[in-house]
Amino acid sequence: MTTSASTTSVGQTTTPYEGLIGLAREAALLGSTASLLNWDQQTMMPPGGLAYRSRQLACLASLHHGVLTDPRLGEHLAGCESDQALMADPTGPAAVNVRELRRLHDRQRKLPRSLVEELARTTSLAQHEWAEARRDSDFARFRPLLEKVVALLRHKAQCLGWPADGEPWDALAEDYEPGCTAAAVEAIFGPLRERLQGLLGELMAGSTRPSDALNELKLPIEKQQKFVRFVAAQIGFDFSRGRLDCSAHPFCSGTHCNDVRMTTRFQQTMVCEALGSTMHETGHGIYEQGLPAENIGTPMGESVSLGIHESQSRMWENQVGRSRAFWSWCHPKLAEFFGAAVESLSLDDVYGGANIVRPGFIRVEADEVTYNLHVMARFDIERVLIRGDLKVSEIPGAWNDAYREYLGLEVPDDRRGCLQDIHWSSGSIGYFPTYTLGNLYAAQLFDKAAADIDGLFEQFARGEFAALKAWLNEHIHSQGQRYRAADLCKQVTGKPLSADPLMRYLEGKLRPLYGQ
Ligand code: CO
Repeated sequence: MTTSASTTSVGQTTTPYEGLIGLAREAALLGSTASLLNWDQQTMMPPGGLAYRSRQLACLASLHHGVLTDPRLGEHLAGCESDQALMADPTGPAAVNVRELRRLHDRQRKLPRSLVEELARTTSLAQHEWAEARRDSDFARFRPLLEKVVALLRHKAQCLGWPADGEPWDALAEDYEPGCTAAAVEAIFGPLRERLQGLLGELMAGSTRPSDALNELKLPIEKQQKFVRFVAAQIGFDFSRGRLDCSAHPFCSGTHCNDVRMTTRFQQTMVCEALGSTMHETGHGIYEQGLPAENIGTPMGESVSLGIHESQSRMWENQVGRSRAFWSWCHPKLAEFFGAAVESLSLDDVYGGANIVRPGFIRVEADEVTYNLHVMARFDIERVLIRGDLKVSEIPGAWNDAYREYLGLEVPDDRRGCLQDIHWSSGSIGYFPTYTLGNLYAAQLFDKAAADIDGLFEQFARGEFAALKAWLNEHIHSQGQRYRAADLCKQVTGKPLSADPLMRYLEGKLRPLYGQ
């Protein structure tokens, strides 16, 4: 890339762009260190470490905020923006980095340092309290800290502001899906909900249903651990540049493309969930490992948005991991790992078992049809919560009402209701809809990959996943933040995001399994 000044050495004046990138990389060092401490808190840290950890995280958040709001960063940005040669190609690395750092700098400057520190400290404590409250199904225990988190987030939204035709939720969602608004989400969710509920009713009335034999087996957790690690490596996760551990809630956090941390979880009777969660997080992990190393620490070395991130995890979990081709390779592997316990299972049993559709209480265990209904219920609640139209104490009631309406279920307790997800305790309001956007992007991107790659499913049936990974590396991962999510979708698939590919995929796969 070109800049207006000649090569510099230590002590000489740097160009505005060099100065800008230096500060961006410093912010990324602090941000990724915080992410590593958060990973440690979820996986390794003894309970006694909590109070000090929350102070460590608050300190790093404050330093991170300090770098991003540094007046020198603003001066460098102004210098870059007036350099026409530097900005000539709007999708070139320099212009992209300037565009995204401008967005970040302006946004951070609206937030008081004290609020940033307080949010980091409080959410660290709240995540711990959530885990305890979830274990005991005790919402009253979690409530005071959640009230504090929501009050801080409402303050954050006020500081950031939103357009005249928008609402507070929009201000927070910008952290996860730039440009996403509640109104836009509602416009997608309304019709999608009708189509999904229609398909659900149709399947439930079908003449047959897949075998549940796979989900009824009790399989030793140590064997499940070996099995899911094997699959993660087979589909392309590089264990020399990442780890897989256990946590209460599966996640993937990238500290650097060469050090990616994923987690999963196990239950004896739920090998499908452990496999699904692991393939899901591996999809995130492959994205992180595929980011361009030379651009790490700058927007050109970062993922586009959570919706695009989720498209990668859901694609490996669903389009790959719930396909018949995948299972025709994986079915004999089950016997290698679990021996006699699985020998009575046929290919139809395991493929069917991975595709059971059944309304349930838990989002992360949900099938592909009901999954988005779980997301829609959360979106409705957090939207009014952050607007101030719902009190924290009213969440359990609102939750149970939504599950009755969307999924036809009576939620038996808060552990299987509003306490199941970590997100609100970590301050992530505005996050949930990115899961459904991810499902839509996954279906649309996968259609294009399947059209571009000859014999994709035949490759899966042979246990070969490298061509899909290479396609994603080229079209998505290596691009960093060159395009915003909606533009990336158009760029890669030639069309704007639509719900049609997802619905076509679900109907095509599930109707035959349910005799429709
Ligand atoms: Co995910």
